[in-house]
Amino acid sequence: MHVTSLLNVSENLRFALSNARISYLFQVSPEGLLEHVYFGQRIADEGALPAVPRRAYRCTTLEFQGVENYNLSDTPQEFPLFGTSDARQPMFHAINSAGNSTNVFVYHSHEVLADKPPLDGLPSARGGDSETLIVTLKDAVSQLRVKLFYTVYRDHDVIARSVQIFNDGEQAVELSHALSSSLDLPADDYELLHLRGTWSREMNEQRMDLPAGRFTLESASGTSSNHHNPFIALMQKGANEQHGQVIATALVYSGNFAISVEQGEFDSVRVSAGINPFNFRWLLSAGESFTCPEVLHCFSAQGLGGMSQTWHRFIQQQISPPQFNGVARPTYLNSWEAAYFDVSEDVVLSLADKAKSLGLDMLVVDDGWFKGRNDDTSSLGDWYSDTAKFPNGIEATAEKVKHKGLKFGLWFEPEMVNPESDLYRAHPDWVIHVPDRKLTTGRNQLILDLSRSEVVDYLFERIDSTLSCGNIDYVKWDMNRLMSEIGSAGLAKQQQLETAHRYMLGVYGLLGRITAKYPQVLFENCASGGNRFDLGMLRFMAQTWTSDMSEPIGRLAIVNGASYLFPPSVLASYIGPVPSHQNDRLSSIKLRGEVGFFCAARGLSLNVEDIDNDEQALKEFIELYKATATDLASARFYRLKYTNNEVCWQLTSADHKTIYLGYFHILSAPNLPYRRAHLRGLDAGANYQLKSNGEKYNGAALMRMGIDLPYVHAMQFSNDTDYMDRGDFSSRLMVFDKC
Ligand code: DGJ
Repeated sequence: MHVTSLLNVSENLRFALSNARISYLFQVSPEGLLEHVYFGQRIADEGALPAVPRRAYRCTTLEFQGVENYNLSDTPQEFPLFGTSDARQPMFHAINSAGNSTNVFVYHSHEVLADKPPLDGLPSARGGDSETLIVTLKDAVSQLRVKLFYTVYRDHDVIARSVQIFNDGEQAVELSHALSSSLDLPADDYELLHLRGTWSREMNEQRMDLPAGRFTLESASGTSSNHHNPFIALMQKGANEQHGQVIATALVYSGNFAISVEQGEFDSVRVSAGINPFNFRWLLSAGESFTCPEVLHCFSAQGLGGMSQTWHRFIQQQISPPQFNGVARPTYLNSWEAAYFDVSEDVVLSLADKAKSLGLDMLVVDDGWFKGRNDDTSSLGDWYSDTAKFPNGIEATAEKVKHKGLKFGLWFEPEMVNPESDLYRAHPDWVIHVPDRKLTTGRNQLILDLSRSEVVDYLFERIDSTLSCGNIDYVKWDMNRLMSEIGSAGLAKQQQLETAHRYMLGVYGLLGRITAKYPQVLFENCASGGNRFDLGMLRFMAQTWTSDMSEPIGRLAIVNGASYLFPPSVLASYIGPVPSHQNDRLSSIKLRGEVGFFCAARGLSLNVEDIDNDEQALKEFIELYKATATDLASARFYRLKYTNNEVCWQLTSADHKTIYLGYFHILSAPNLPYRRAHLRGLDAGANYQLKSNGEKYNGAALMRMGIDLPYVHAMQFSNDTDYMDRGDFSSRLMVFDKC
């Protein structure tokens, strides 16, 4: 079906945002309120709709401002508020200039834009073949005005929403809830899927039946966090990888967030998302405006697999820096687990020689290269080379590495300072803090107050002065602690609770300046692994250090969980040492290399001795990584199997010519059942040749009948080594070429 206009506004003010597959509908009620009508699979916008959102209840329910039988506690709305007849989570809550919190916004006007405007000071999805509806609502009493932004895309089943709040009055207003989106859905049987964890165990999938009441995922310590990713999928009960309806929500924001799902007294469901209202206040002075972060809602009628395909394509095309879209990531050797803080020019150059002889593309110097940084107790903030380790500066070492024919990468943790540093001694008030309190530390460090422009300027100047040498191809941007004693010396007393959001605006401003000045430098987002792994950071950085968990069995759940939202193109991995520094497990190079294969950015973090011990096996992986790097940068990812003991993933190259199938079997046992995998998205009429044995298989058969997976047993009772595997922690990477 070809849909020419993505946006349709009827005479009686019903707004229809549709592409060929989805529709998002809402309307203006006779009272001027915005009523949500529908979000899901496309329905034609012309013609009558059966849905009537007005519901009448008796007894303790209220009638909105005296309108008979009009109660908002079960009326689906676009901009729900507290204070009249709805006590569920409001999208907006403010103490107005009269000192009370009753604010009632009614429709004032709307406009349609041919594309999508960027958000003021905040990252947001890019536009393109899209249309944006802006609806303006006003509250005549409190003299507040809001603009609700909705973008619909022709090629993506995603609706982008955000809000701008204006104070048109003469006195300041105090915002406490400034959420970005609220989606009211009809009563039904739903399940939830979300991603939770902690350091080195990020992104673990959780599923649950939707509880009655309000269930909230949130962060309050300054980053989106590894505790809960700012993402949730609400599934029609029984939806699985390929079937059933899913509405998913993700925030383009990296600070304190809240996503709540509320099943109210009449069972209808409200999904709200935005800045966490807890510990947030914003003084909106007369004439000022406030922009809320962007929220994305995605709809899939093909289950969680369909949802992930939608997110992956959207992130690649509308979020990730476009200059790296589909571009092969360099294979690398990172100094961290090879040398920790003991880096020096000699160490770096010998690692570079090793990297070169292995055929790697890049050498990355991780932590430890700057003034006095010999362990984690000092020096963050002092972004000058340690001349005892790098006598002519890191820039000169970078040049030597580049002369060897390698790219050069460098680690920074710009947002942090150690009390033991020249920067802190010179500017003790440049940290996030509150007066008269001892400060809590994390990894011996404090957080610089990036809500202050002088701090942002200092960091820009320091990073710029290093990158301007022209020999840095990659930056790993780390961030290793959460916020405590949250306040800023740069803000007035009434504005202290603005600190965390203003900090994020400072981080985005700094990242915006640096990445605009160095568009060809590949930035990797890292926060002790995945402690700030979200679409806000990905707007500036093409990839993320997925987790400090480099041990492959520990990584399976993390990559599987991450794949619900994130494509392989934004994931980074490396083959680390054994026993694992994270969980003490021993694992083969084969397993480490094959699990790592499913991330686009791939490398090693091993010392010279470790490399020498496994040189041949490592060389083979590096060859494979390089040969497949372009495919990984744009491949489609499918979760074929995920249980406590088995994982099977499929990658299909963007040209559909190569299929990579990874099978990971954790613990062996006697007489295990035989398993099959059913491949997805193949050409039913084509044949696919398995590289290892030259066998050809028909696409329809691979999808419908499936292919036998390696059989794991304690004894090798068949000579077919393509079919047998032994013992714990076995893995197999199968490559099929379309013929
Ligand atoms: C935490 C990161 O996740 C690690 O990869 C490493 O860069 C260390 N920081 C360095 O301090």
